[in-house]
Amino acid sequence: MIRIDNLTKSYGPFTAVKGLSFSVAPGEVLGFLGPNGAGKSTTMKMITGYLAPSSGRITVFDHDVAEAPVQTKQLIGYLPEGAPSYEAMTVQQFLRFVGRVRGLRGTALEQRLSQVAAQLQLDAVLPQTIETLSKGFKRRVGLAQAILHDPRVLILDEPTDGLDPNQKQEVRNLIASLSRDKIVIVSTHILEEVAAVCSRAIIIAGGRMLADDTPQQLAARSRYHGAVSMILPGATNAESELVKLPQVASVEVDQERLVVFPKAGESLFAPVNELIQRHQWQVEALHVERGRLDEVFRDITREVA
Ligand SMILES: Nc1ncnc2c1ncn2[C@@H]1O[C@H](COP(=O)(O)OP(=O)(O)OP(=O)(O)O)[C@@H](O)[C@H]1O
Ligand SMILES: [Mg+2]
Repeated sequence: MIRIDNLTKSYGPFTAVKGLSFSVAPGEVLGFLGPNGAGKSTTMKMITGYLAPSSGRITVFDHDVAEAPVQTKQLIGYLPEGAPSYEAMTVQQFLRFVGRVRGLRGTALEQRLSQVAAQLQLDAVLPQTIETLSKGFKRRVGLAQAILHDPRVLILDEPTDGLDPNQKQEVRNLIASLSRDKIVIVSTHILEEVAAVCSRAIIIAGGRMLADDTPQQLAARSRYHGAVSMILPGATNAESELVKLPQVASVEVDQERLVVFPKAGESLFAPVNELIQRHQWQVEALHVERGRLDEVFRDITREVA
């Protein structure tokens, strides 16, 4: 378990993190969401022991981060914001260096290096100096050093930032495959990523926690939850017929798409389908929305911003 109790961080007169409390258990992938400047990176820096809190307490598997900094750091793999590393080293030198710092030696080190290089598709760049790598490859080197000692806790600050779409997917798969017995905390601005990889999401803004829920439950707070979105070319009477349904609260036109919103507690799929059959409308697309995380995120963080 990671337990965070009333965590606060001030930079001079400015308080970036204000009394955060939460726990994370093995097997959970916790997404850290929040607008720029919310306090995500600051919180991660405190969990990893890189920054001392102004007040509050953090324990990692019962070790206090302030009192047992070495033990807690051994348990954690950390990708800091921007994936910093030693630019003049080659990828191979850097990963070997990190492996040795992590206590790996000999064949155990070499085996782990080749495993991780394969996992992050780094083989081709192992002899290259880090300063000559593209942004996405630098991020992958940062991820490689974070997972090298197979830690029980992974703290990843925007792990997919700057990656191409294929690599984003690879890293999401990697996180999913690593998460079974680990605690993973990832920050991201990509809301689809939260739905794809996180079992839980915490939204913070202005240093305070505003929501702590599953991505599904967060999405269900959206006014789009349960709405039917469809494209009905040529059905000129569709809007006026749909609003007459007793289950329908409203209909909005979004370019060529009609979005039909249910009244509270009503399900629209059956009555809308029945109406389509009755009028023989030609349906080009139809789906029931789960809810839009981006809209929920905006609503939750708007007041603080
Ligand atoms: N060393 C520092 N000195 C003063 N203020 C700082 C320092 N580091 C961070 N801050 C401020 O603390 C606040 C939180 O910053 P933090 O980096 O934690 O935000 P974030 O949620 O990670 O944002 P982003 O999404 O942009 O990465 C910001 O207002 C930032 O300017
Ligand atoms: Mg940050």
